[in-house]
Amino acid sequence: MIKAAITGWGGYVPNNQVNNHFLTTIVDTSDDWIKTRTGIKTRYISTGENTSQLALKAAAQALKQSNLEAADLDLIIVATVTPDSFTPATACLVQAELGASKAFAFDVTAGCSGFIYGLNIAASFIENGKVKNALVIGAEVLTKVTDWTDRNTCVLFGDGAGAVVLQPSYYKGILASYCGSAGDKEGLLTIPAVPVRNPFVSEQPAASVISMQGQKVFKFAVKAMRKSIDKVLEDGNCKFADIKYVIPHQANTRIIDFVARKMRVDKQKFYRNIESLGNTSAATIPLAFNEMLSQGLLNKGDKIIMVGFGGGLTWGAVLVEL
Ligand code: ACO
Repeated sequence: MIKAAITGWGGYVPNNQVNNHFLTTIVDTSDDWIKTRTGIKTRYISTGENTSQLALKAAAQALKQSNLEAADLDLIIVATVTPDSFTPATACLVQAELGASKAFAFDVTAGCSGFIYGLNIAASFIENGKVKNALVIGAEVLTKVTDWTDRNTCVLFGDGAGAVVLQPSYYKGILASYCGSAGDKEGLLTIPAVPVRNPFVSEQPAASVISMQGQKVFKFAVKAMRKSIDKVLEDGNCKFADIKYVIPHQANTRIIDFVARKMRVDKQKFYRNIESLGNTSAATIPLAFNEMLSQGLLNKGDKIIMVGFGGGLTWGAVLVEL
């Protein structure tokens, strides 16, 4: 059976590194609170680059790594909750800049699980033979929808993009994937768009900023990640011992610790880079994957699990043989 194998990867963050001390100058917080409650020490904040520009830089690296030309691409998916515009899709902007004229391109909105959803969709197209070369990007400029007066959220987020190229393989690739949603819990994590405004309605727009019920999201996150990991292990006929690393969504290092503790597995198997990058939503998983490869932590034949959760609410995981 044809599988979707990862053959290229890339990652990019803006060059403006911001430490916790800076945040203490704009809200009532402390370096100690942020570090102990979240694990975050720094994050990278855009000084003007928009989501498509971050996506493009990560995409170019992934293409180079896979020895593909942009013209070879059949499909481009950008997972984001912070697109440049409602339309065109950020994926179309990336397509134009790359010159990937043969590809069809669209965005996926599934909160911080968006990259996992994107992998799942691209893999389906590859497995059924409709697509050969797919580019999946997770890209966000979350700091443009951050409420900089809300200490509960503004300390958490950063900007960045990560990308992978997927191609058909008989030998390796995505062995199992799973996605879930719970729309009835939508209120726990929101970024409003525009309300209905026309000659018949004159509703005032709510500020388009993130609001979150942190503790409820925390509890949901632990359950959703655990369930997603168990599901792909079962569907992929694997045991946790077969897995070299889990690459979890980087929202809070304590969430990751809780998942490992509840599963009674070694927490060192859960990769984390939240300390330096913060929470970049749909970009955290591909950014971590790119970082791990550049550090030589992953080798051919390794099995890994990428697992995420986010607004929607949404969750999901993929089990991949590299
Ligand atoms: N600095 C100092 N104090 C703070 C700050 C801050 N930045 N933020 C909140 N506090 C205070 C609160 O006001 C509260 O004070 P009180 O006890 O006097 O009322 C106290 O700290 C504890 O607040 P909690 O909300 O209970 O803190 P908690 O330990 O739950 O940590 C956090 C908050 C970090 C948001 C945590 O709940 C969390 O990580 N939740 C999950 C968030 C998440 O996963 N989001 C991911 C999805 S979103 C996305 O990825 C785009």
